[in-house]
Amino acid sequence: MSTDFERLAQFPGSGCEKYDRRAAIFGREDVLPLWVADMDFPAPDFITRALEQRLSHPAFGYVKPDQRYFDAITHWLESQHHWKPKPDSIVPVAGVVPGMSMAINAFTQVDEPVIIQPPVYFPFFGVVQDNARLLLQNPLVLKAGFYRINFEQLEAQAADASMLLLSNPHNPGGRAWNADELARLISICKRHDVLVVADEIHMDLTYEGVVFTPFAKVAREQGFTNWIMLTAPGKTFNTAGIGGGYAVIEDARLRKAFCKEKQRWHLNDTTVFSQIALIAAYEQGGSWPGELMQFIAQNRDRVEAALKDTPIDVLTAEATYLLWLDCRKLGFSDPATDPQDLGLQNFFIEQAGLGLSQGIIFGEPGRGFMRLNLATPSRIIDQAMTQLHRALSEL
Ligand SMILES: Cc1ncc(COP(=O)(O)O)c(C=O)c1O
Repeated sequence: MSTDFERLAQFPGSGCEKYDRRAAIFGREDVLPLWVADMDFPAPDFITRALEQRLSHPAFGYVKPDQRYFDAITHWLESQHHWKPKPDSIVPVAGVVPGMSMAINAFTQVDEPVIIQPPVYFPFFGVVQDNARLLLQNPLVLKAGFYRINFEQLEAQAADASMLLLSNPHNPGGRAWNADELARLISICKRHDVLVVADEIHMDLTYEGVVFTPFAKVAREQGFTNWIMLTAPGKTFNTAGIGGGYAVIEDARLRKAFCKEKQRWHLNDTTVFSQIALIAAYEQGGSWPGELMQFIAQNRDRVEAALKDTPIDVLTAEATYLLWLDCRKLGFSDPATDPQDLGLQNFFIEQAGLGLSQGIIFGEPGRGFMRLNLATPSRIIDQAMTQLHRALSEL
């Protein structure tokens, strides 16, 4: 593997959202961007090579995923996560979030409640509300710097809802839900006949010593069939801009209903490039997540060391390249409402010159938190920490 994690492949003018939308998002061009969840270093060269090779064949007509595509997914889930999906259970989708929206349409009615567990990736709110369903929020509980599921409240809410959207590993906060937690969640959903849509897009991105447990693996052990897994190679291999994801739906009745809904959208299953990228990633990328996460761990250690004696607490992440910072002790309002109070986001933008994701966009429990993206060269992390230190010392 020859990826140079110290090479900045996204920069101003490179067409990437992270740099080029700074003015729109933060109101100024000069913040160091540590927000949207993609990586600043190059995608692995085995993917770039496969795409280059395909480009030399100058025909870009329609494509259909072939057997190699399905085999590559099965191989990946089996070799990386020790779980083999049943034959014919893989359904290509345009992306994980579109897949979630399809599931909501296929299996719930307008005004029906759907459970989410904030703070959570903000499109979880969007897919529920944009489809005119009701949000039922079961906030995660923060205990000793670690998020837990509120099972008691979930039990009560599950009686009223027919669907739960699960982020596993969880964005933000970085929990990789363990087998016991998943089993407990499953027993509740089984009792109340709740369909679980498990978004596992961060599944490959665990830190050393942490095991990702596929929801489906525990579900199978528990005899629970009411689930849909959604995932994609885009986070792991930095190919989010190429698009494409897939659902795994083992229950034939659910799969048929999902595919019927999918048909209504008339989207192509894959594109020339999403198919090539997935096959290259899953056939050749076995050692990449480990190497990537080793580098990410070094960046995490840099941030932890830099913020050790400051009022900002860094949550212990088990997975993802996103770090969740508890900034509540800084005492800023969030979002800023009082003209006398700079506000948390403005402190980061104006005083520290940093563009992070504002915690409040992940729901009310994210108020006072900020999400920092570690997938960038170490000098950028060091620069960010120097700027943040300076801003903190001026408070
Ligand atoms: C939890 C989670 N789900 C889904 C996505 C995006 O998936 P897609 O681009 O395939 O819709 C992200 C991107 O950050 C994410 O963090």
